[in-house]
Amino acid sequence: MNEVLLNLEDICFAYDGIVALRHVSFNVKRGETMVLQGSNGCGKSTLLKLINGLVYAEQGSYTFDGQVIDEKALKNSSFSKNFHQRIGFVFQNPDVMLFCNNVRDEIAFGPTQMGYDSETVEKRVNDLLAALDIERLAERAPYQLSGGEKKRVALASVLSMNPEVLVLDEPLAGLDRRTQDWLIDFLQALQGAGKTIIISTHDDELAHLLGDRILYMNEDHSVNYIL
Ligand SMILES: Nc1ncnc2c1ncn2[C@@H]1O[C@H](COP(=O)(O)OP(=O)(O)OP(=O)(O)O)[C@@H](O)[C@H]1O
Ligand SMILES: [Mg+2]
Repeated sequence: MNEVLLNLEDICFAYDGIVALRHVSFNVKRGETMVLQGSNGCGKSTLLKLINGLVYAEQGSYTFDGQVIDEKALKNSSFSKNFHQRIGFVFQNPDVMLFCNNVRDEIAFGPTQMGYDSETVEKRVNDLLAALDIERLAERAPYQLSGGEKKRVALASVLSMNPEVLVLDEPLAGLDRRTQDWLIDFLQALQGAGKTIIISTHDDELAHLLGDRILYMNEDHSVNYIL
């Protein structure tokens, strides 16, 4: 577990002058689980967005599997498509990622785009509907669901693509205890299978349970320490 998969060096980022990341440097090795912790507003979600190529560093560099990820690289549509298939992101707010007419289509979207045949896609969708206990929601419109239901659908829609790297922003937030327990077991199984996982959480128990390393951010948006 020594091969560096993601490497961030001296990353700085601000939203129209509002600083969110200050000289952030760290790496994530293949097969490792890295947990981000820190107080509200310290920059965890921004860092995860940057890792997923949704915002770009103003200073510093980010490489994924040795390739520079910046605005120029992601303008190349085949590079961008490949990158987004390798790294899956479940947002803190699932509303921004649900756009299909019903839950079944939402979960099927990713693997269909990736070119899997309809039988494989259907099996994946059914397995995830069952695993996340959302079978009864399959024909419902995602935007009408409760917060926790949306979170489950958002998780299923990313898990259905089986990405090489799984990035989860506050994955337990808004989930009931049973679903939290299921998700922790599921993530531990993925860890056992060698998946690279990056998670932000306010839950110390989860951080220590899953994290190979934990990165603590300061309120001034810099890295405090990595344990
Ligand atoms: N779209 C935006 N426009 C302007 N400022 C933003 C935007 N999103 C975040 N910020 C600011 O950037 C900083 C970092 O926000 P971020 O959402 O990354 O924090 P966080 O660590 O994820 O917080 P939380 O624990 O509350 O989820 C905060 O000061 C926030 O106010
Ligand atoms: Mg956040």
